[in-house]
Amino acid sequence: MTSTDNAVRRGTVHTRVADGIGWIVFDNPSRRNALSVDMMDAIATALGAFDDDPTVAVVVLRGAGMEAFAAGADISEFAEQQASHEAQRRFDETAGAVFERLREMQTPSIAMISGYCLGGGLAIALGADIRIAARGSSYAIPAARLGIGYPLANTEALVQIVGPAQAAEILFSARRLDSAEALSAGLVNRVVSPADLEHAVTELAGSIAANAPLTIRSAKASIRASRHPGEAHLKDRAEQGIQTCKRSDDIREGQRAFMEKRAPQFTGK
Ligand code: COA
Repeated sequence: MTSTDNAVRRGTVHTRVADGIGWIVFDNPSRRNALSVDMMDAIATALGAFDDDPTVAVVVLRGAGMEAFAAGADISEFAEQQASHEAQRRFDETAGAVFERLREMQTPSIAMISGYCLGGGLAIALGADIRIAARGSSYAIPAARLGIGYPLANTEALVQIVGPAQAAEILFSARRLDSAEALSAGLVNRVVSPADLEHAVTELAGSIAANAPLTIRSAKASIRASRHPGEAHLKDRAEQGIQTCKRSDDIREGQRAFMEKRAPQFTGK
């Protein structure tokens, strides 16, 4: 392969905003949307930008095409990363920044999964608040096949979502689960036909975007606090969110709209 071929195959990340939905698309189809360090950097940047953008009510992460959400980190970069501390540090920091953004952002997120959802791809999907998947997708954490020590924060997320016994099977065996197994393990919220996937996700995202943003932020903060019961600052943040709703214009608008039998027009204030 020439260096030009390799550059072309490094992939890219597209973003767009439509109807309150911020789309983040991993685009590296010739490598099954494997994520290079530059792509992970772009994902972290896009998540931050969407979280700061008042026109974005919900973020959807997806792969380009239907063949893969993402086949994990780009293994073709591993040799270079392992050859230098600097490159290894950049990989760890960049991947860490994606997961931190997903954890910290106030905007809700949905992973739209079609096809291979492996390794770092599955970790990103697990970092989203909601996972909607197409039938025929497959899920695995191949770290044990590659000799990788899977990051603690990602293992914690997996254990919280599927429990320790399912996490053990997924991590120890590195086996690929199909969508039916992923659904019964709690790895995904819902499985739909590939033809219905984009519509199902857009409809869900649209219904979230039409709801009261402060309520959603507060629910997000409460869910996070529930996942980390020992962390007092998360509990405080969740309580503040609930109080903010009580003082909001939107709580009055929600009640007025109900009484007037019309759809509410929320402003997030
Ligand atoms: N990093 C870099 N390249 C990858 C990749 C990854 N994570 N996953 C797939 N590719 C590349 C393959 O090397 C292949 O490149 P080539 O055309 O130069 O041979 C191309 O994508 C297509 O993959 P291929 O294996 O031929 O397709 P497939 O449909 O038979 O299988 C997968 C797809 C995803 C099951 C398989 O490629 C795979 O197991 N990938 C590795 C997944 C993994 O271990 N991810 C965790 C990384 S931490």
